[in-house]
Amino acid sequence: MPKNIIDIQAICYTFADGYVGIKNISVSISKGEFIILAGKNGSGKTTFLRHLNGLLLPDSGKIFVNGYDVSKHLVQTRKTVGMVFQDADTQIVGDTVFDEVAFGLENLNVKRTQINEKVTQVLEDLNLFHLKERNPSTLSGGEKRKLAIAGILVMNPEIIVFDEPFSNLDYPGTIQVLSTIIDLNRSGHTIIIATHDVETVICEATRIIIMEDRQIKKDGNPLDMIKHLESHGVREPCSSKFGLGIKPYG
Ligand SMILES: Nc1ncnc2c1ncn2[C@@H]1O[C@H](COP(=O)(O)OP(=O)(O)OP(=O)(O)O)[C@@H](O)[C@H]1O
Ligand SMILES: [Mg+2]
Repeated sequence: MPKNIIDIQAICYTFADGYVGIKNISVSISKGEFIILAGKNGSGKTTFLRHLNGLLLPDSGKIFVNGYDVSKHLVQTRKTVGMVFQDADTQIVGDTVFDEVAFGLENLNVKRTQINEKVTQVLEDLNLFHLKERNPSTLSGGEKRKLAIAGILVMNPEIIVFDEPFSNLDYPGTIQVLSTIIDLNRSGHTIIIATHDVETVICEATRIIIMEDRQIKKDGNPLDMIKHLESHGVREPCSSKFGLGIKPYG
């Protein structure tokens, strides 16, 4: 068992139009960490995250997941790293909410009874079960976001990457998604969340990585990082700003 579940060594990435998306990022992540990836718009969070399951491959440098070179083990990597995208619409493929969540398991030829059990459980956890017969395209923005999360959770990947999971969610939706993420972490999953909304998740985080100008600028424990957030364009949680420390959301 490798010590680091993710090992990133000096990756650089340039888009087709010549714009540099990632500048020399090196970082290691241990199993079971709960990481907030913070940074203002355009700082490179999504571009960086897309490298973690091989959606983008670096021009130089290496990424290892569970000790495997991502560029050479794409299928294995995508089973290990589940990615909930920032744009929920891009993931929708099923005709109903139920089928949408069942899709990945069907592709793995999982038994129908097991599929029904797992999908029902995930839909109930995210309070989506009453929508199971609906066409995904008719859902609200927040419902679509929860559906995208359900489609990843049902596959039970070891590492789950969330790109802005709370955007579009109302207060109960935020609590449902947050408590699902917390449970996943407590049951051993490694969690990486890109968000502007540090306040919502800071209580659970073991580490905050701050990006700016498509590089990692700061990396450390939440208490040390909190005072650096605003100088990198990310809002400091109110509770710490007003001297009340770090408070749980809700
Ligand atoms: N396909 C592309 N071609 C050229 N430039 C791109 C492409 N995709 C993203 N970029 C640029 O790369 C930079 C980083 O974008 P990225 O989406 O990673 O930022 P982000 O930190 O996720 O921002 P946000 O908080 O708005 O989601 C931005 O300046 C963006 O315009
Ligand atoms: Mg983004």
